[in-house]
Amino acid sequence: HLYNFRQIGPHTKVFGVISKPVSHSKSPKLYNEVFKSVGFDGVYAHLLVDDIQKFFQTYSSLDFAGFSVGIPHKEAALKCCDEVDPVAKSIGAINCIIRRPADGKLFGFNTDYVGAISAIEEGLKGSHNNSGKNTTSGSALAGRLFVVIGAGGASKALAYGAKQRGARLVIANRTYDRARELADIVGGDALSLDDLPDIPPEDGMILANTTSIGMQPKVDDTPISKHALRSYSLVFDAIYTPRVTRLLREAAECGVTVVSGLEMFIGQAYEQFEKFTGLPAPKELFRKVMENHS
Ligand code: ATR
Repeated sequence: HLYNFRQIGPHTKVFGVISKPVSHSKSPKLYNEVFKSVGFDGVYAHLLVDDIQKFFQTYSSLDFAGFSVGIPHKEAALKCCDEVDPVAKSIGAINCIIRRPADGKLFGFNTDYVGAISAIEEGLKGSHNNSGKNTTSGSALAGRLFVVIGAGGASKALAYGAKQRGARLVIANRTYDRARELADIVGGDALSLDDLPDIPPEDGMILANTTSIGMQPKVDDTPISKHALRSYSLVFDAIYTPRVTRLLREAAECGVTVVSGLEMFIGQAYEQFEKFTGLPAPKELFRKVMENHS
């Protein structure tokens, strides 16, 4: 993916995305292109990992400078770090690990939450149903009912972020007990995914899918039937492959504002870039590279 191993020198910093599946990840393309554009001596690879704890037990001989963490390792990754950022600790999941060069210690962060929430707030600014929902907290999310589909690591980050912005939470998950557990931690109601269409409609509701339902190659799957989407003001999907999932396509057909996972991806990626390189992130470059590749 756009790096040439012959260009790797003794000072080249090596990064990778730990995930399973991993081949869908656009991170290697993105970081390698941005590293090259800004003249940073680094490469970034796909790392297909089954068991993240085993990976870290054996990886120490490999001189990685940092990692992105994806499905399904975001929670288990927490246990692999020597130190974890307090926000990531409350979320209970990380998506970014930096290795301190001096002593090799691993530091875990969560950049998903910032990327996702700001993308949704941006989307609400353009939404026709934004009136009366801005409160003293200043967030367009304050007071709204925020429905999260899924109860994994990405869901935790989003639920935590939405709650912090003053939203009221509902967690809907295939396994009800996991929804209940997350709702109890963050503060909210829990539902089984089958009951999702029965939420009584109210003004300004937001729906956020954080599961892999609808991700390539199963692009015909969707977590909720189209008719139930009309109750929402905004629908967000954390998936970015494909860029427009069936969920987002059907929501747009119902006249609902949609926010693609690409926005979340770009938001979290430039946060990670700054942590990886210590350089300010060239935000417009990230968008340009992603738009060329999606
Ligand atoms: P991540 O940490 O990246 O969020 P995860 O912890 O594996 O990944 O969580 C995946 C989420 O997607 C879970 O909420 C999972 O539901 P369960 O708790 O019931 O396992 C949900 N999920 C994945 N595939 C699904 C499917 N085909 N149908 C319904 N939910 C699914």
